[in-house]
Amino acid sequence: MIKQHSIQQVKDAVRIEEVVGEFVNLKRKGPRYLGLCPFHNEKTPSFNVSPQLGIFKCFGCGEKGDAIGFLQKHEHLSYVESIRWLAKRYGIELEEEQQSPEEQLERSEREGLGVIQQWALDWSMDQLWNTEEGRRIGLAYFQERGFSEATIREFQLGYVPERGDAFAKAALAHGFTAELLEKAGWVKRRENGTPWDFFQGRVTFPIHGLSGQPIAFGARTLKSDKKLPKYFNSPESVLYVKSRSLYGIAQAKKAIVEQAVCLLVEGYTDVISLHQAGIRNVVASSGTSLTVDQVRLIKRYAPAVTILYDGDAAGIKASLRGIDLIIAEGLSVKVVAFPDGDDPDSFARKHSSSEIAAHLTGAAKDFLVFKADLLMSEAGQDPVRKAAAIHELVESIALVPDHVLRSLYIKQCAGMLEVAEQALVSELNKVLRRAYRKHLGGDAPVVEELLEPSIAPPPRPREEETGTVPQERDLLRLLITYGQERITVPMLLEDDSTVEEELTVAELVFLSLAKDQMEPEDPLCQAIYRDYRFAHNMGEAVTPERYINSEQEDWSRFVIDLLAERHVLSPNWEAMHKIYVSRESQQLRLAVQQALNILKERRVDRMLKQQQDRLKDLTDEAEIEQVLLTIRALQAAMKDLARVTGRVVVG
Ligand code: CTP
Ligand code: MN
Repeated sequence: MIKQHSIQQVKDAVRIEEVVGEFVNLKRKGPRYLGLCPFHNEKTPSFNVSPQLGIFKCFGCGEKGDAIGFLQKHEHLSYVESIRWLAKRYGIELEEEQQSPEEQLERSEREGLGVIQQWALDWSMDQLWNTEEGRRIGLAYFQERGFSEATIREFQLGYVPERGDAFAKAALAHGFTAELLEKAGWVKRRENGTPWDFFQGRVTFPIHGLSGQPIAFGARTLKSDKKLPKYFNSPESVLYVKSRSLYGIAQAKKAIVEQAVCLLVEGYTDVISLHQAGIRNVVASSGTSLTVDQVRLIKRYAPAVTILYDGDAAGIKASLRGIDLIIAEGLSVKVVAFPDGDDPDSFARKHSSSEIAAHLTGAAKDFLVFKADLLMSEAGQDPVRKAAAIHELVESIALVPDHVLRSLYIKQCAGMLEVAEQALVSELNKVLRRAYRKHLGGDAPVVEELLEPSIAPPPRPREEETGTVPQERDLLRLLITYGQERITVPMLLEDDSTVEEELTVAELVFLSLAKDQMEPEDPLCQAIYRDYRFAHNMGEAVTPERYINSEQEDWSRFVIDLLAERHVLSPNWEAMHKIYVSRESQQLRLAVQQALNILKERRVDRMLKQQQDRLKDLTDEAEIEQVLLTIRALQAAMKDLARVTGRVVVG
């Protein structure tokens, strides 16, 4: 536990624009800072940071909070981890209350490993530069590969002597325990307990954490014996999680932000050679395919990735699926192939900086176009294989979160594949609808939805003019009464055409509210709504009895009242009510959509009033402008609501 006054000290020191500025490119605009929101995809900045208030707010997606909240959301840190991050950033020593034994252990192990890796780094560099063997073998090797002294120092490359236990001896003498040295991956022990150096006779490539501290090592053999593994790598530990680190990120992150693109290569030496050639925005996945965590790490710094491949098509083909992961995260992806026999490292050594840069621009292909090319040339004229290829391609295109981009890809690929655009569109719609059904529940409930419903009430809004309780009750009644009924809903598709989709009332309600990140606000309505959604996602066909017979007395009383209720706001409810009784699917659908729309209109209307109220107290021009923008967006939303009744937009 961190002591309260330390937390306060951190909060006092924090400057939100600096914290956010570590991750988002911010431009000063009057008293505020503006940038592209890191929490949703956007092309024009609506992400505001206010130094005076110490908060950020996105007018696009509504994400807001203080510096701690930013780190929690953006870096997926816990509250305490965020405080520690900030303390480190601002050089504040935190005073701790007593920690639990496990916490102490893990923390001290992480710290211990960190100290060992730093010490080992210094030791291995000292061996490389300052010993006869190191210079003759290790340094000579790097120099033969064409690495300059400056490069070798920048990447903190090192050497471990051939003599079996030179490192172990020195490290033990320094006071590190054999156990921790083993966990750090530097030392192994024979059966009789005598230690030996795992990296003996190898040159070392330290892997750095984000802030430049060594967390692991790759160690390359200098022997050409093909039976020996070329690299030994540190094992995973509390300090080093392979799937979350990228080789070279510490050296590259500034350049990645500046160039707004991250180059991705396979190996340590590719990163280093490109750096030396002046191409600095490059990291390596270290031989394995990318993980989601690594993609998100890249996404913190840049919206685009360019993957650099060695020549052979087989290798490229093998990695196509992995690239879908990057696309699904909303990053744009290009690929660059190298001439046969060359990898980025060898290419960089043979060519000048400007030639490399020219190749990177000249040979870069959009990934989806590249994939289309590759699949088509493989399929040749075989119609079955061609169809399979189209399907595979469309599955990738469907992952692009931005629907405008998606349409562009469809157009472009249709041209390349010489198929009618409409054929691709309908294929795309099939894939989208399947993904969308999956998203609705059933097969793959969204993780958040699997949490037990919370009964804690949100702050209650002032009832009179702002509440939407009657509308919420209306909707909830429809949900509870008709949730399992199937209705046919026209869906708006990519090409502006519509298809009929069969859904249950419950699916439509959850989908529609989730799309606008809405829930009932009234505590009871909300609790029951969440309970219903939870049960629904678990595959249950919820009936009114679940609530009428609920052991929670307030729930059963509430729902009984609700189902008996006559009074409703919607002026034509009487007519509607008769319609429900007739249970005609079409009319039930209209009733549900009307209830949804009325609720949304009331909410938008309330937001409009709030913004208009705010406008009265504002003097700052930039803020006024921002509020006016918001008001205009809300007015447009209001118009849309009135217009789209009866249509649900996919994607
Ligand atoms: N790799 C590994 N273990 C191996 C082989 C490879 O961890 N036995 C990882 C390393 O991160 C390596 C990357 O995969 O950098 C790419 O492998 P490779 O192309 O074989 O190595 P290079 O880095 O190109 O090394 P070199 O140029 O010295 O052959
Ligand atoms: Mn290589």
